[in-house]
Amino acid sequence: MSASASEHFDEASRLLAAVRDVVHERPYGAAAPGWCERRGWTRFLAALPDDAVSAAERDGLAAHLAAMPGAPDDLVALGLAVARCTALPALAETASGTVDPRRASPRKRTQVAAFAALATRVGGAPSRVVDVGSGHGHLTRHLARALGVEAEGWERDPARVAVAAALAGDGGARFVAVDVRDATAALRPGDLVVGLHACGSLGDHAVRAAGAAGASVAIVGCCLQKREGDRAALVSAAGVPSGALTIGRAVLGLGNGCDGEGGVEEDLSVRAASRVHRMALRAALTAAGHDPGPGGEMRGVNRRRATGPLDELMALAFAARGMAPPTAAAVAAAGASAAAEYERLRRWSLPRAMLARLVEVWVALDRAAWLRELGYATEVVEAFDATVSPRNVAVLGRP
Ligand SMILES: C[S@@+](CC[C@H](N)C(=O)[O-])C[C@H]1O[C@@H](n2cnc3c(N)ncnc32)[C@H](O)[C@@H]1O
Repeated sequence: MSASASEHFDEASRLLAAVRDVVHERPYGAAAPGWCERRGWTRFLAALPDDAVSAAERDGLAAHLAAMPGAPDDLVALGLAVARCTALPALAETASGTVDPRRASPRKRTQVAAFAALATRVGGAPSRVVDVGSGHGHLTRHLARALGVEAEGWERDPARVAVAAALAGDGGARFVAVDVRDATAALRPGDLVVGLHACGSLGDHAVRAAGAAGASVAIVGCCLQKREGDRAALVSAAGVPSGALTIGRAVLGLGNGCDGEGGVEEDLSVRAASRVHRMALRAALTAAGHDPGPGGEMRGVNRRRATGPLDELMALAFAARGMAPPTAAAVAAAGASAAAEYERLRRWSLPRAMLARLVEVWVALDRAAWLRELGYATEVVEAFDATVSPRNVAVLGRP
């Protein structure tokens, strides 16, 4: 386990606190975000050529900043610091051939297989595995077999518990329909608490409860925004004022399409076209005297229509509000202004997108720091390749 875990946490905490304003202000509308103006980044970003923007969206801005002419020094330094703080040890891929394929996609099987390696890395010989947010129980069943121990899946959705129990049959693992928050008193020393895509606050609950019980931990989180309220740091960091690391609920999902059971990422260009069309629709509705409300422009229209022809989308959305369709000229004008606004937003979004991984890694480092305060040896690693799932940051802890 890493000797510099505390320094890593402190450095990531200071970095995140220093860019808290960037994380919390999402580019929106016609004006550059306040953080962009204050830092003097607006002119550089606005002048970025299209191919540079596309490359930065694909690989992350940090990967290209050093080679971009005129990049502000503090932005280049931020890119380097983010790359340093988010670089994690990566586990070698574990063969997934022994994972039961029933109802499990190839990607899910690879994720499940990686947990056997995580369990080995945590070390010790657990007397029981408890899988929090066990879903259909693929991980629970696999670890029961691979480690040869009793295994329980705790899952609050009874339908998923029923599927998991049916797949398990009579042997290997048992499944309990329960909210993990109500069940943690039943954790024991000697347990290994695992969670694969333990979403939102479930990751925090599981880590804290495992720590309180003296159990070992291997948790990969996801969908950090799925929680009630903002997330306060579990642990204070050297040189960071208290409260500076409370992250707003709405921004915890920064760059995080939830990637649980299924989601293959939607193609970037399709998402871009859909966003421009929605912005154009919003502008046309507003120009016609109708306020759609925040995010309300697609009300009454299937969201897939946003990727189709703009005039058809407009006709449907206007009809859903009892309004006559806009003229061809109005559609064209709204489309052109939305396209221009989108190009500005793309550029302003680059520094913030660069911080998405920092937020995700920092939450994992915070969880690990909590365990270290309880005397645990900890590690934060990439459990599997991002192509298997981009939500791949594992917190490991052994008491
Ligand atoms: C993203 S899914 C992952 C499922 C499974 N671990 C897998 O990888 O296929 C998260 C699961 O956690 C469950 N969950 C979330 N919060 C929970 C809680 N507080 N108690 C029990 N289950 C919870 C959800 O119902 C869901 O099945």
